[in-house]
Amino acid sequence: MIPVLPLLFMNYSMGIMKIHQIFFNNSLRNFSYLISFNDGAIFCIDPLNPKEVLSTLNDQQLAGIINTHDHCDHYSGNEELAAAFQCPVMAHPKAVVPAKNKNLDDQEIIHQLISEDSQWCLKSIFTPGHTLSHLCVLLEKNNSPYALFTGDCFFNAGVGNCHNGGDPEILYQTISTIFKNLPDETLIYPGHEYIMRNLEFTINYEPRNSNALEFLKKIKKLNLNETFFINNMKTEREINTFLRLSSKNLTDSLKLKNSNEKKIFLTLRELRNSW
Ligand SMILES: [Fe+2]
Repeated sequence: MIPVLPLLFMNYSMGIMKIHQIFFNNSLRNFSYLISFNDGAIFCIDPLNPKEVLSTLNDQQLAGIINTHDHCDHYSGNEELAAAFQCPVMAHPKAVVPAKNKNLDDQEIIHQLISEDSQWCLKSIFTPGHTLSHLCVLLEKNNSPYALFTGDCFFNAGVGNCHNGGDPEILYQTISTIFKNLPDETLIYPGHEYIMRNLEFTINYEPRNSNALEFLKKIKKLNLNETFFINNMKTEREINTFLRLSSKNLTDSLKLKNSNEKKIFLTLRELRNSW
């Protein structure tokens, strides 16, 4: 896990690119992101409040807007930003978002930058489940996953709901294939800040999960409107009960000892709906 930075947005520099995380202290606790490459290209993922995005850009130009999915808290800033910068607005072909003028299918390259010692590639990954046209945005370094911008598919210590156009069985397929196969060091940048509630859910069904207990104890001392976590997949595999479907502690508490992982996932997703 990257050390906690007490800032309203964070700026991680990786040599030829930077990631800015912009937090909106609304009831949904959204994150938007700016990815800045050293060739001057800046992409915005899931703009909610255009004024916050413009303020973070600080007179720099946007090269493109990417919506992970067609829920308004992920695209409200599209029209104002697209008009200001005359830049492409990208989303899945079936996603209905304002000002869209470029479709992104699975594995489409959005931007590439090659330097002497590293190669960066930003691409779309089809991740249905929260909605049926949901994309995550993958940042690769030297052809390996470096960071994943997960929209509402996957959160710190949790996964997205399927209330508005989604399907939990399809979400299970996405989590059990794409997320299960991500390298441990992949950084996770979710679309919302829900870590406290998600950890409490994990601990309710895995009361002996010492990593989750320790994490919760630590964050209870923090102001979660100012301090955010960029977990990697190793940490998520320790604290996110939706990735821990073979945990005996979990299957015992759900009384699903002999069930398959799909059944356990769907049971957890249903329980989380009323948590
Ligand atoms: Fe959503």
